[in-house]
Amino acid sequence: MRKKRNWIEILTECKDSVQTKIKPLLKTLDRPQSSSGVGAGGDPIRDIDLTAEKAIVDTLKGKKIDFTLISEESGIVKYGDNSFECYVTTDPIDGTTNLLRGAPFYATSIAVSEQPFLRAIQAGIVADLFHGTAYTAEEGVGAYRDGHKISSSPRVSVEEGVIGLDLNSYRIKELAPKLTALMAEAKHLRHFGANALELCYVADGTIDAFIDIRGKLRTTDVAAASLIIREAGGILTTPEGRSLDAKLDPKQKVEFIAAANEEVHQRILRLISG
Ligand code: IPD
Ligand code: CA
Repeated sequence: MRKKRNWIEILTECKDSVQTKIKPLLKTLDRPQSSSGVGAGGDPIRDIDLTAEKAIVDTLKGKKIDFTLISEESGIVKYGDNSFECYVTTDPIDGTTNLLRGAPFYATSIAVSEQPFLRAIQAGIVADLFHGTAYTAEEGVGAYRDGHKISSSPRVSVEEGVIGLDLNSYRIKELAPKLTALMAEAKHLRHFGANALELCYVADGTIDAFIDIRGKLRTTDVAAASLIIREAGGILTTPEGRSLDAKLDPKQKVEFIAAANEEVHQRILRLISG
C-alpha cells in the first residue's frame, strides 16, 4: 500500500457496490437458500455472501489495486503482482442469519492494512446494509458515522447502561459462571446478531459495551470495527484487559471486551474475572 490512496472513498465505493449487487437477491429470500459449501471461516457460504465478496473484489480490481484478500468466505487470495503491499480484510456480510430471516440488522465490514494484524489496520468501514448507515475510520483521523464524527458514550454505569453480550455458544455451560455477575448487574442486556455493527454501536454511543468471550468470533468480523471503536475513544481489550491484537486470518478467533470508556471497562473486567 505504498501508494497514497483515499481509502475511505474506495471503501465507500465497495460498500455501495455490495448494496447494489445484493439488492436483487434480497427479493428471493422467501425461496429456499442454497449453500455453496463451507467458507474459510467455517460457516456455510450463501450466494449472497459470495455476491457481496465479489462486489468488493471487483471494485478494488477496477481501480487496479493489488491486494491480498482476507475474507470469511474465500479465505486468503492474492490479487496482482504487489498483493503483499495491501491487505483487505472483510466479512462481506456480517449477520447473514438476520438477513436471511428478514431481521433488519446486517452489515458489510472491510478493513485495510499494510500488515496482516489487527493492530495495523489503517482504514475501515462497517456499513449497515439495511438502514444504509456507514461507520468509517482512519488511523489518527477519528471515527465517523455517515461523515459525522462520533465518540463513545461517557456514561459510566454498567447497571444503567446498555450492554451487548454474545451468548451464542455450544460452550455456554462452561462460560456462564464467568458472566453471571455481569448479567446480574446489567439491567439492559442486548444482542442484535451482527457483531461488527454492534461494536460500532459502542463507538457511536448507542450502547456502552459489547462483550464476546466465546472464542468463536473471527478476526474478519472485528477488523474494521476495531479501528472504528478505538478512533471513537472506546476501549477494546482481551477478557484479561490486554489491548486486542491478532493475526488477520479467517481462521483466527478473538475474545474481547469493548467498552465506551475506562470506568465501564474496568467494571466489566472486575465482573467477569470474579
Ligand atoms: C455472525 C454474527 C453473529 C455472531 C456470530 C457471527 P456472520 O457473523 O456476527 O452476531 O453471533 O458468531 O458468526 O456469520 O453472520 O458473518
Ligand atoms: Ca459473514
